[in-house]
Amino acid sequence: MKVDLLIHSASQLLTCAAPEGPLSGANQGAIGLIEDGAIAIDAGRITHVGPTTDVRPTVDARVEMDASGYAVLPGFVDAHTHAVFAGHRADEFEQRVAGATYQDIMAAGGGIMSTVRATRQAKLRELVMQSHKRLNAMLTHGTTTAEVKSGYGLTLETELKMLAAISALNTDHPVELIPTFLGAHAIPDEYRDRADDFIDEVVDEMLPRVAVADALLPPFADIEASGYQPVAVFVDVFCDVGAFNLEQSRRVLERAQELGLEIKIHTDEFESLGGAALAAELGAVSADHLAVTPREEIERMAEAGVVGVLLPGTTFGLGSDHYADARTMVEVGLPVALGTDLNPGPCWCVSMPFMITLATRYMKMTLAEAVVAATINAAYASGVGDEVGSLETGKAGDLVVLEWSDYRHLAYRFGENPVATVIKEGTIHEVLDGVA
Ligand code: NIG
Ligand code: FE
Repeated sequence: MKVDLLIHSASQLLTCAAPEGPLSGANQGAIGLIEDGAIAIDAGRITHVGPTTDVRPTVDARVEMDASGYAVLPGFVDAHTHAVFAGHRADEFEQRVAGATYQDIMAAGGGIMSTVRATRQAKLRELVMQSHKRLNAMLTHGTTTAEVKSGYGLTLETELKMLAAISALNTDHPVELIPTFLGAHAIPDEYRDRADDFIDEVVDEMLPRVAVADALLPPFADIEASGYQPVAVFVDVFCDVGAFNLEQSRRVLERAQELGLEIKIHTDEFESLGGAALAAELGAVSADHLAVTPREEIERMAEAGVVGVLLPGTTFGLGSDHYADARTMVEVGLPVALGTDLNPGPCWCVSMPFMITLATRYMKMTLAEAVVAATINAAYASGVGDEVGSLETGKAGDLVVLEWSDYRHLAYRFGENPVATVIKEGTIHEVLDGVA
């Protein structure tokens, strides 16, 4: 068979195959390692995967890549990002280093609201330009698909502007983005002490507009003129102290479901308000953070088929030692996924390999469990488990060629980029000199 690309002789090829759904429990670490592996891609899709001796004789490739001495694995899927924003908060980082807590800063009007002010001011074009650079850095570190949230606008117009920016980036940049509407990310200054009124606005005004692809109407002429549609696949809410309570979170998520959108929840980052149980009750696709989730709620999520998205970079960036209890999650059969939580607050980090390092050292995940969490389970957490996240025939030709022959270097070496080459839908993006 004639194919566009053949990569052969990889010292290790990790398939992370999981056609039935996310991997959990004893299978959380099922990386599907093939020694001396090969993969063929045609028209952006994987046509063959297996030992080089099986694949190579059956294909006639236009381009061949000899990957001997390199490990190959699925492109990373970053299951949770806030990659679209304007400005930075280096001043707050310095305050946190000096002892201020995330909540102190938020209560003083900083934190998320500080980025909201910068993002409200930014023109759509500026927002796209600033975020484009971050997507380049993500791609360079091996991320080929990422979930991205709105939530730094908090008015109808500025939330639509964020979603339009995500849609522009999706058109212009190789990293595929899954858009999430996070209108209930923080209580805006203008609604201080009136959080219920803000939730009314989210539920009555914003959600119906983001649920329908062609709902955009004047007066938002600049968004309309951009030609990019503000749409969302998921709806998320920040259910925690200092943000929204359980009842407010329920209102947002139930309305989203009525409108036909899938749901996620930010919960148990600081205190448990019952958000994980709510995720189980409503059948959320994922529940994210889960740093302080009680075992009983972890069990309920496992039964309900929720994916737990863990964000160890945020715990690290907060200088906290309270990492999510990944071992209990694996033990009770909750599929674990990883995300960077890339945001201008506690975790400005684009690197999934660094998340794998943190997961192994601070959450006691095995290397193989963390790789599954960063690929196929993150794909299922983002609603694209049938399309990306593993090296299986028919799926998108998204993969990473590591600089090293052994995938364990991913976690073992940190602070340098382990990625030599990234391939997105069969298109080669060289990162380091080496594999050609
Ligand atoms: O997931 N916790 C809420 N939202 C983000 C932080 C966003 C920010 O501080 O700008 C998070 O950690
Ligand atoms: Fe987040």
